[in-house]
Amino acid sequence: MKFIEPPDETVPVPRAVETDQFRVDVLRGLRRPAKELPCKYFYDETGSRLFEQICELEEYYLTRTELTIMRKHASEMAELLGPDCLLVEYGSGSSVKTRLLLDRLKRVAAYVPLDVSREHLLRSAGRLAARYPNLEVLPLWADFTGAFRLPVPSRRPARRVVYFPGSTLGNFDAQAATLLLAGVARLCGPGGAMLLGIDLKKDVRILELAYNDAKGVTAAFNLNLLTRINRELGANFDVAAFRHRAPYNRVLGCIEMHLVSLRPQQVRLADEVFSFAEGEFILSERSFKYDLDEFRAWAPRAGLRVERAWVDGRNYFAVVYLTVP
Ligand code: SAH
Ligand code: AVI
Repeated sequence: MKFIEPPDETVPVPRAVETDQFRVDVLRGLRRPAKELPCKYFYDETGSRLFEQICELEEYYLTRTELTIMRKHASEMAELLGPDCLLVEYGSGSSVKTRLLLDRLKRVAAYVPLDVSREHLLRSAGRLAARYPNLEVLPLWADFTGAFRLPVPSRRPARRVVYFPGSTLGNFDAQAATLLLAGVARLCGPGGAMLLGIDLKKDVRILELAYNDAKGVTAAFNLNLLTRINRELGANFDVAAFRHRAPYNRVLGCIEMHLVSLRPQQVRLADEVFSFAEGEFILSERSFKYDLDEFRAWAPRAGLRVERAWVDGRNYFAVVYLTVP
């Protein structure tokens, strides 16, 4: 297993560059009249661990449902993806769902798990490489919304395929999601393909329960963002003075994660002071829910065509096969 640092394997990016970007993004978000923070910063070591726990929760139907779809249809998916493909996974996390594909794909040229959470990525890639000794595993620590260079596999692939499970696409609004999918289409090139997991619209009570679990794991995941900002950027958030809330926004069609200030307070970061009124909140994540027909009509805007879609029995989740015409 080779480990590739972005943006170029010969030029490792120093840690300071990352921290600077983190500070810039946080300051920009907190200066806005309606405060917000980018959700990609959830995933430090603790955040990645908490996300794994979220996936196990009774209320968080997404992971279980997508796995059910994958178990049932992975052979057909593998058939469509074809032999000798270069499998690139966006936001690969624990790479658990991927195994269902890897078990069925013929002669995978290489597997490139791509994630912002460095240690988690390396651990998962290491586990996967041990499980599939004949597979070339090339982990790529990168932000899939930015520029990155794909590692070159030892074997020439017949086709590039992007696997993007988990409905992570849903964490982007329509404009950003179009840009992201257009980037996938460019990366794969004509003849390339994508396998995408998307969470579907459903009863609001089910959605809100999934993001407001009884054990408080999602709350801990949300609040950990403030702990991370304190630790890595030297801010002084009183984490106990914020609470987690995740209502469904019916107008936008998404769950919103909020960090609500429990009292009037001030927070210092770098040389700036940010004031919070009681009840004021930071928007930390949106999680859009899709209508499959609308998604089908929208995909061509990103240069992709929906060829096939599999849903579970309750129509909760869909895995979609797209091609680059
Ligand atoms: N694919 C896994 C994990 C989904 S959680 C699953 O389906 O269960 C989302 C994953 O995307 C996390 O591992 C997180 O670290 C990663 N991620 C979030 N934003 C990212 C970004 N901008 N670039 C790369 N990885 C990102
Ligand atoms: C990664 N992403 C698709 C998750 C979601 O459901 O939006 C992140 C998450 N946030 C709260 N719970 C899980």
